[in-house]
Amino acid sequence: MKSFYITTAIDYVNGSPHLGHAYEKVLSDVIARFRRQLGDQVRFLTGVDEHGQKVQASAKRRGIPPQQFVDEVSAEFRALLPKLNISNDDFIRTTEERHKKVVRTILQQLFDKGEIYKAEYRGFYSTRQEQFLQEKDRLPDGSWPEIFGEVTEITESNYFFKLKQYQDWLVDFLTKNENFIFPPYRQKQVLEFLKEPLNDLCISRPRERLEWGIALPFDDGYVTYVWFDALLNYYSAVADLPGVWPATWHVIGKDILVPPHAVYWPIMLHAANLPLPHGIIAHGWWMTRGAKMSKSTGNALNPLDLVEEFGTDAFRYFLIREMNVGQDSDFTREQFLVRYNSELANNLGNLVNRTLNMTTRFAGGVVPAAETGEDAETELQNLWARTRDEVLPLCEGFQFHAALERTMAFVTATNAYIERRAPWKLGKSAEPKDAALLRTSLATMAEALRLAVALMQHVTPATTEKINAVLGYQPGATWRDELGWGSKLTGRKVAESLVLFPRPAPADKAPAKP
Ligand code: MSP
Repeated sequence: MKSFYITTAIDYVNGSPHLGHAYEKVLSDVIARFRRQLGDQVRFLTGVDEHGQKVQASAKRRGIPPQQFVDEVSAEFRALLPKLNISNDDFIRTTEERHKKVVRTILQQLFDKGEIYKAEYRGFYSTRQEQFLQEKDRLPDGSWPEIFGEVTEITESNYFFKLKQYQDWLVDFLTKNENFIFPPYRQKQVLEFLKEPLNDLCISRPRERLEWGIALPFDDGYVTYVWFDALLNYYSAVADLPGVWPATWHVIGKDILVPPHAVYWPIMLHAANLPLPHGIIAHGWWMTRGAKMSKSTGNALNPLDLVEEFGTDAFRYFLIREMNVGQDSDFTREQFLVRYNSELANNLGNLVNRTLNMTTRFAGGVVPAAETGEDAETELQNLWARTRDEVLPLCEGFQFHAALERTMAFVTATNAYIERRAPWKLGKSAEPKDAALLRTSLATMAEALRLAVALMQHVTPATTEKINAVLGYQPGATWRDELGWGSKLTGRKVAESLVLFPRPAPADKAPAKP
């Protein structure tokens, strides 16, 4: 069995989770579930980033100790996961001893190898980003970009990791491994970034400035820079599990690709003699009216509100259907409603209702065997074969939005097939030929429904399960074996009805628009 280890970024716990955080979990979950369906041995990690200045400051504002603060906020992030039906195997917190132990060990190893040195540094420091800035970070007019917040000039002694000496190695590595970063154009951006000389990385913060962090094992007067600490979570969570490291994919947002994930992380691993991950998936941002959704801009949407109103699967479906992995998407309630109504309620919901209703009315609730395969049936079966053959590679290449679009087109075609066969007319005929065609059409629509939801299983797992249950069907252990057109439903007793995607409450009762 192939080992497949997937991680999400670990979220800062200085605010509540928003739609952007939820998306990353759902996307990673969809990949994890898809790989499990293909038979891989999947390990799926998510978690929280609990150290650093921002957390220390937030705790101070609340007047509580940082540990108490992170316990509270982390619980909120953790509670989101079951609500989104996330199938993670582990949840890591960077304040856990298992993580701190690994960070200390690696720091000590790097220090002993001479990869870390102490030096005095005078420079401009951004508290918001918790990093020293360089002249090249300035805007053309000499000011500092907004994202850095307040910038002050400071002089202090610190520990530095010898990043610079690995620049050529990294360029060479990325040139040889051109699919290290998905989407590929992001890899080009990293190589572009690497055309400028790197500086060594300051990996310590003096205790008097920041207490809330992991003490350097070789100098108790300092704590570890939060990124150096946080990145190691991917490894620390599985350090004791044989055969899991290296990670297959790190799923992150594009804002934390360069430099942390695409520059610091590969170099840290290489310097520590650890294998590199197979790759990094950098997704885009959810925006509101063109601006990145974030806690600090105050335009963040609470994912739980949407889950409560529309259900987990509709929420997951929308996020995956709407966003092309890597690109940005604007979130609007209108667009959510369009997809909910037209694709889930009207298209898929309609197929479910018709199948259950007509099988009940015309066949005593038992799926008949197909008898006569004519053009209409052959066409639908051929479309199915094409759909399946396109959808699998699309999912393997993270084009889940396109995969769902194809699957929905198949559902649309199945509804059109039902219109064409008009079982409600065939049911009125006394002709044996029509009775045979009726049985065939009932078998065909049920089989098409079973197949369509099998193909959506990683995106809408609960819906697929519910539909299989009302079809009286229990899928076999091997997902691929479920994807062939056949007669698996013949003789199954179906339920009379299933309400899957109820009409949303009228606008005046719905929560305010984002
Ligand atoms: N703690 C760091 C990550 C450390 S990983 C070793 C961090 N945390 S974060 O809470 O700011 O962001 C967590 C993830 O959510 C990141 O991958 C980030 O890109 C993603 N998102 C935050 N806002 C987002 C949107 N508006 N849209 C999509 N995802 C975005 O960075």
